[in-house]
Amino acid sequence: MRILLTGSSGVVGTYVLTYLLEQDHNVIAVDRIPLAQSTLDSLSAKYPNLDDILDVHTVDLTSIEQVKDLFSQYSKGTIKGLIHLAAIPHPESHDPRFVHNTNTTISYNVLYTAAEHGIQRLVQASSVNYTGLAYTTKGRQKFERLPITEEEPSHAEDPYALSKQICEIQAISLCRLFPTISIASLRFHHILPTLSEAEEWSRHDEFWTWTSSLSASQACLLGLTTPQEGKWKGHEAFNIVASDIAWKDPAVSSLDLLEKSEWSEDGRIGQVDTTWWGGDDGKRKGFWDCRKAERLLGWVHTP
Ligand SMILES: NC(=O)c1ccc[n+]([C@@H]2O[C@H](COP(=O)([O-])OP(=O)(O)OC[C@H]3O[C@@H](n4cnc5c(N)ncnc54)[C@H](O)[C@@H]3O)[C@@H](O)[C@H]2O)c1
Repeated sequence: MRILLTGSSGVVGTYVLTYLLEQDHNVIAVDRIPLAQSTLDSLSAKYPNLDDILDVHTVDLTSIEQVKDLFSQYSKGTIKGLIHLAAIPHPESHDPRFVHNTNTTISYNVLYTAAEHGIQRLVQASSVNYTGLAYTTKGRQKFERLPITEEEPSHAEDPYALSKQICEIQAISLCRLFPTISIASLRFHHILPTLSEAEEWSRHDEFWTWTSSLSASQACLLGLTTPQEGKWKGHEAFNIVASDIAWKDPAVSSLDLLEKSEWSEDGRIGQVDTTWWGGDDGKRKGFWDCRKAERLLGWVHTP
């Protein structure tokens, strides 16, 4: 199947591109910057027919004209899926206005044009930061309930969280405008290749967890390919997060970490459903409930 992938030169885009080719898909790779030479070299070595299975385009996705021109190079019906990853993911290193405006402009340009082009299955990268987390002023992050489900309201105050919230609202609106399409917004945690890197990085203000690069890539593809069979249509958001905490000391439980952290301050967490961490296997469970992704996409986290 031919898939258009945006953000293909980025960290996650490179994982997803590699995974899609491994799964025998044809990819149209789109980014503002070219693919890294090292990526091209390793793909060329692996696929002698690379030119037949990979098209690469350098496009500024904030430009309506450039986005329209990109899609117009392909006949309607030939692109079967869109995976939209392009964004500014590091708000601290940019002007807040630039982060907000870029992310929300790109997503509308890409999602709208893909739908207009007849693409029926669309996936976009959202984030666990949707609720207001890593980039929200310290001490002001709050949650109504643990574990965190897709129903947790957004308390977005930083531009990145807000941009992800708006991207999801755009998706809801576009599914009304184009009633036959579906869009999966994947709320990733910090995407890393291995558990040991996740354990090094693990931090309390993001609930000590992560998403593996393999699992993120698998979720992107499942968002396009899982038969919907009446289970879902239109827009759905999915938590795509590791099932367990990434913490080196196996004796430490998730609730130990929670109790000793700033999350135990008054007013930060409304309700903690401690039964989530019950039983012998439950002590190290993570703080995001991903059962919706398992039920509707057939996705489970692979470390
Ligand atoms: N990396 C993570 O841990 C993580 C976690 C949660 C969500 N996400 C989301 O996943 C997606 C990918 O993140 P990433 O870490 O790979 O980021 P990245 O910065 O490595 O990659 C993003 C890519 O988007 C491209 N891009 C930005 N502006 C563009 C424009 N105007 N036109 C065309 N391309 C443009 C960049 O050139 C870059 O290659 C983002 O939407 C991010 O918000 C990432």
